[in-house]
Amino acid sequence: MKSFFSSLRCFACGHELPAGAPDYVCPACGGNLEVHYDWPANHPDRSWWRDTTRRDIFRYLSLLPVSDLSLASPLRVGNTPLYSAPRLAAAAGLSSLYIKDDGQNPSASFKDRAGAIALVRARETGASVICGASTGNAGSSMACLAASVGFPCVIFVPQAAPAAKIAQLLTFGARVIAVRGTYDDAFDLCMHVCAQRGWFNRNTGYNPYTREGKKTAAFELFEQLGRIPDWVAVPVGDGNIISGIWKGFRDLFDAGISDRLPHLLCCQSEASDAITRGVAAARALGLSATSASADWQKLAVPAVAATTVADSISVDIPRDGLAAVRAVIESEGAAIVVPDADILATIPLVARATGVFPEPAAATAAAGLLAAAKSAILPSDALAVILSTGNGLKDIASARKAAGEPLVIDNSTDAAMRATEL
Ligand SMILES: Cc1ncc(COP(=O)(O)O)c(C=O)c1O
Ligand SMILES: [Zn+2]
Repeated sequence: MKSFFSSLRCFACGHELPAGAPDYVCPACGGNLEVHYDWPANHPDRSWWRDTTRRDIFRYLSLLPVSDLSLASPLRVGNTPLYSAPRLAAAAGLSSLYIKDDGQNPSASFKDRAGAIALVRARETGASVICGASTGNAGSSMACLAASVGFPCVIFVPQAAPAAKIAQLLTFGARVIAVRGTYDDAFDLCMHVCAQRGWFNRNTGYNPYTREGKKTAAFELFEQLGRIPDWVAVPVGDGNIISGIWKGFRDLFDAGISDRLPHLLCCQSEASDAITRGVAAARALGLSATSASADWQKLAVPAVAATTVADSISVDIPRDGLAAVRAVIESEGAAIVVPDADILATIPLVARATGVFPEPAAATAAAGLLAAAKSAILPSDALAVILSTGNGLKDIASARKAAGEPLVIDNSTDAAMRATEL
């Protein structure tokens, strides 16, 4: 199976570059780039887009921007389970709800989908080091995948990143630079260092290849459900996951593999809501699903001062903001914010209703979906999916805030009997 990667196109001005161009962003305007493919029209084999012998994201190699799989991590990335969630559906008043547990990736987050592609791309370009800035998950994923093939990896994180994520980074042997500052500060330092040292820059949004890894979750949903879902709830910070999911569904539709598109629900914390504000701004400008790329140049996605407990989606300046806002508007979806208290309360709620333990960012997707269902953004007969993007063990401090306390007893059978009266 070979890749049909053909070109890169600027989100903002439409400028095109050939596949393999060394640029990360548009040389004409600095906008983010999108990967395009020259897929076969009317292919006689309906299965041309997947290698059914593989059970990981490289099953979709024909629609990925890399070619040499001898450079890929041997770890299994993707093919994460999709569970029906009837009790959560009942709580939401929906007839059909699923949860996709991307915490079951090698480093326990969705980010492995992006890291797996970044690793191959970095090695294909002959880079000596992969470097990235991260709220924690993108970095721990990159460190994990780099370790699996013995590749040097340098990660910038905010010093306040959850302890488990920093522990992962250190354990996998990355050089870990904990910045006294925010994720956005770490991002800028990484940009500077990569430019000076000529390292492969994995930064979210800036690097056009990460989005392509993330889109594989859309391909999996289509295969797992046997159809396109009506709504997909996505937790959003930089906006690269939601724009990746949209790219995946669009690739399927544009290549004639599927015949419809889903609505995307952008779920954010009230305390980190840049994309939601961007969606409101786009609507105020009259931008719609049919607006041309040039019309989108009017939109400035605002920056915010993020403070949310959901560390993975605590973002001041969303690095894939335009693509994310377009994903919401073009999918005729919606953007919703939830308070941090709801995010924390939703961690045990999801865990108890499904057996899937979400980290705060992942719980934000569930909290957003519940709120959207209550406010009738989602019709009750919609087939909806929650993307659970990270495992709750990554941030046990947040889970403990919402999960209650154990019954502490003396070492006596009487006390044990009293404590076990149900
Ligand atoms: C667990 C988790 N969920 C959601 C997100 C949000 O993704 P994005 O920043 O691309 O919007 C992240 C990003 O770090 C994450 O780690
Ligand atoms: Zn451009």
